[in-house]
Amino acid sequence: MTETILANATLVLPNETLRGSIVMRDGCIAAIDSGTSVPPQAIDCDGDLVLPGLIELHTDNLERHIEPRPKVAWPHTAAILAHDAELASVGITTVFDALRVGSVRSKAKANYGEYARHLADEIIALRRAGSLRINHLIHLRAEVCSETLIEELAKFGPEDGVGIVSLMDHTPGQRQFRHMEQLKNYVCGKHGFSDAEFLDHIAAQQDLSARVAATHEAAAVAGARRFGAVLASHDDTTTDHVARSAEQGAQFAEFPTTENAARACRDHGIAVMMGAPNLIRGGSHSGNVAARALAEADLLDIVSSDYVPSSLLSAALMLGDLWGDTARGIATVTDAPAKATGLADRGRIAIGQRADVIRVTRIGGTGALRGTWVADQRVG
Ligand SMILES: [Fe+2]
Repeated sequence: MTETILANATLVLPNETLRGSIVMRDGCIAAIDSGTSVPPQAIDCDGDLVLPGLIELHTDNLERHIEPRPKVAWPHTAAILAHDAELASVGITTVFDALRVGSVRSKAKANYGEYARHLADEIIALRRAGSLRINHLIHLRAEVCSETLIEELAKFGPEDGVGIVSLMDHTPGQRQFRHMEQLKNYVCGKHGFSDAEFLDHIAAQQDLSARVAATHEAAAVAGARRFGAVLASHDDTTTDHVARSAEQGAQFAEFPTTENAARACRDHGIAVMMGAPNLIRGGSHSGNVAARALAEADLLDIVSSDYVPSSLLSAALMLGDLWGDTARGIATVTDAPAKATGLADRGRIAIGQRADVIRVTRIGGTGALRGTWVADQRVG
């Protein structure tokens, strides 16, 4: 039997904070008590926050590790281990690693190749070997505007434990890329295109989308069903987009780009997820609705770290300050993502839940990690 006691902490419970202690035993939370006493074998948290471990539904952080510079490939095992350690160090104890399915092979300069199946195998193998600090699950980002979506999806099955399929459509001229100037900055910055090459690229992508979007969309929805995964929408912009997502059975909406779309999600019972970098920077880098505006309008349910893992904790604390309710802010990165993905055993400090727990102190607005436990084992 292993037992760890975190005492004299500010416990963030589902609906309140409580000065007290928790006992973690055999991988679960075994007791919660109020008070400031510190038993001899306990860790004295000195008033620090003790929260459920954070749950991240959409991060492409692993891509940064497998390709640390453009066109530089890094060995995958080393990349996955570094990514895993980074997430543990910022308080994330469950991650859905977002892997793109749907590639474009035919273009020399703007091609993006297939990698999801191979990388998923490597993540699953490291998980089975017990080599990872935190829980890793798979999120397949199904890119509708691509050439190979159907064949890549066919390589996955129910045995892979795919938890999320998100339906993404990055066809130029709509959703995230409806502002052509923003798109131009993004695409030309990434591929070094001239104006003429940019226009060629746009035309080719729009042509591809016109040919394949409908069948690809249907294949992604069917794939989610076949894997037993939750379906998420991505970059919904209009109320029609949201109505379509609801029909397809989306459980949560990644980064709706307008307040109208977020409101429509609420009407359809679809949880709204926004990016922590958007909250922290005070707006979207691609000209979409500010996450803070949605939080103020009561239209924000889940936060994702997107491309900056350490932003997750600070964004949740920021929301707690904004709403005057720490527990509610923290729920956007713990309880809400757990519920959206059907993970009933985590996301709350409650007796019987997994002992995925973090200890945090604040340096101004920034959350600083002082300890991460996964199933009561210290991992960071
Ligand atoms: Fe997007």
